[in-house]
Formats: sequence, C-alpha cells, structure tokens
Amino acid sequence: MTSSFTVQNADGYEQLMGRWSKQLAPPFIDFAGIADGERVLDVGCGTGSLTFALPQAANLGEIVAIDFSPVFVEAASQRNTDKKISIQQGDACALAFADGSFDRALALLVLHFVPEADKAVAEMCRVVRPGGVVAAAVWDHLGGMSGMRMVLDTAAMLDENAARIRSHYCFQPMTRPGEMKRSFMANGLTNVEETSLTIRMDYRSFSDFWEPIAAGEGPLGKYVASLPQDQRARTEAAVRAAFEAGEADGPRSFAAVAWACRGVVPSA
Ligand SMILES: C[S@@+](CC[C@H](N)C(=O)[O-])C[C@H]1O[C@@H](n2cnc3c(N)ncnc32)[C@H](O)[C@@H]1O
Repeated sequence: MTSSFTVQNADGYEQLMGRWSKQLAPPFIDFAGIADGERVLDVGCGTGSLTFALPQAANLGEIVAIDFSPVFVEAASQRNTDKKISIQQGDACALAFADGSFDRALALLVLHFVPEADKAVAEMCRVVRPGGVVAAAVWDHLGGMSGMRMVLDTAAMLDENAARIRSHYCFQPMTRPGEMKRSFMANGLTNVEETSLTIRMDYRSFSDFWEPIAAGEGPLGKYVASLPQDQRARTEAAVRAAFEAGEADGPRSFAAVAWACRGVVPSA
C-alpha cells in the first residue's frame, strides 16, 4: 500500500487541516530554503497549501506538484491560475521524473501517510540534482498535536477501538523524534538538520473544531462516523467538555508542532 490517507472531500480537508497547513507552509519554506529560478517538486500537494505558497516566497522557474489522490489533484488544479505550476496525479514511492531533474523536493505533512516512507525519501533524493535539497515536515502526533490528542485521549477512555486508533496515530511513520533524520542520512543526504516548527490552531468555537470531524474527515472523522448514534453523541459530549475545559464555549487555541528535516543531495 502506497498511501494510508483517506480523502472524504477537498472542502472538508480544508476545514480539518488545509487551513493549518497553509500556516505551516511559510515557516517550512523558510526552513527548506528556496531560490529564484529553481525547479521545485511538491510531493503530496493535497489541496495546494504548499504549492501556492511557494511562488509567494521566490520567483521560481517551475513548480511541479503531485498527489496520490485524484480528488485533491482535481481540487488543486481548479485553484491553479499560475502557468509556472503544474499539478498531476503521482505516487511519492515511484516518482515519474528523471534523476536529478529538480533543484528541491519538498513534502509537507505527507510522509506519515506513506507506509513505506523511506521509499518516498529515496525517490525524493533520486529526482533532486547533486547539491539540491530534500525537505519534509510531519506533525509530531504523540507530543505536539494538543487538539487532536485531546480528542483521541478522550475517545480512548470511552472505547478501546479509539485507543487502537490513538496508538496508530501516535506512531505513524516518521513522527518519532529523529526518525526523519535517520531516514535522510540512511538515504545518503548530507548536512541533515532536523528541527521543530510550531503554529497555533485557533478555533472560533467547539463547532468550528468538531464539524470537520463530525463530517467524517480524516482518520478521526472516519472513526466517529463509524460509531452508533448513542456512542457518537457520548463521544461528542466528552470531547466538548474537554474542549470547553469548564468555561463557556468560545475561541480556543491549540499548539501544533511539526518535525521538519532537510538534507543536501551529495555530489556524485
Ligand atoms: C495531510 S495531506 C497534506 C497535503 C498538503 N501537502 C498540505 O500540506 O496541506 C497528505 C497528502 O499526502 C498525499 N499522499 C499520501 N500518500 C501519498 C503517496 N504515496 N504519494 C503521493 N501523495 C500521497 C495524500 O493524498 C494527501 O493529499
């Protein structure tokens, strides 16, 4: 299996995650470093949070964006008005590009959905020229996703299936400290650096937080949608209590931390 990501619909993804990956894209681009004229590959572009942020950061020569999901390729293509950007369906584990054909390959919030994430890193290394850069970021699910952990910890107290989903979530590929760095080094990259990037997920209210999950978006949404009506209501009430934390419903802000790693393709 090449992808563990499940897509409900592109608008739902925007509400659940796209609005936050848009915030993470600029600090990730700063960390990855881009320069005018470069040809950049965005691996796992989704609805385009990184793709459309790239031209804001430099006068790039060309941006090629690929995603496994035809639903996202369609959604991102509909948004695209930039002739320098091309968007196509593709697999991170078998990139349809020649060796050394990009200056940089970037993947924002993708590798943790690739069961054979090492293979995707190897492919990113292959398509980048010697001296070029490979960079990726994934959420620190165990220690850095306070909002999602709140949902999973609450649900896990009520249901052992949710505890299993929490375990899977916390240890998705590349999310452990140092895991991406080890993979980048094992794939021969040099000057490998790993850091963490933090954004705030600011919600207007509980419904702003819960609606995309209730609509079945993401792994948590899939779980909630699978519950019988009474259990779903109990779960929602318990998560609402955790979200409100003893005060009236209203805005809440959750820290979200991503691991980011970059390395340089060595000269042959
Ligand atoms: C959480 S989304 C991130 C999307 C976008 N980069 C962003 O930051 O909003 C994960 C994306 O990875 C894509 N993906 C997962 N496995 C993939 C694979 N093997 N090849 C290409 N894309 C993949 C999914 O289809 C999905 O669009």
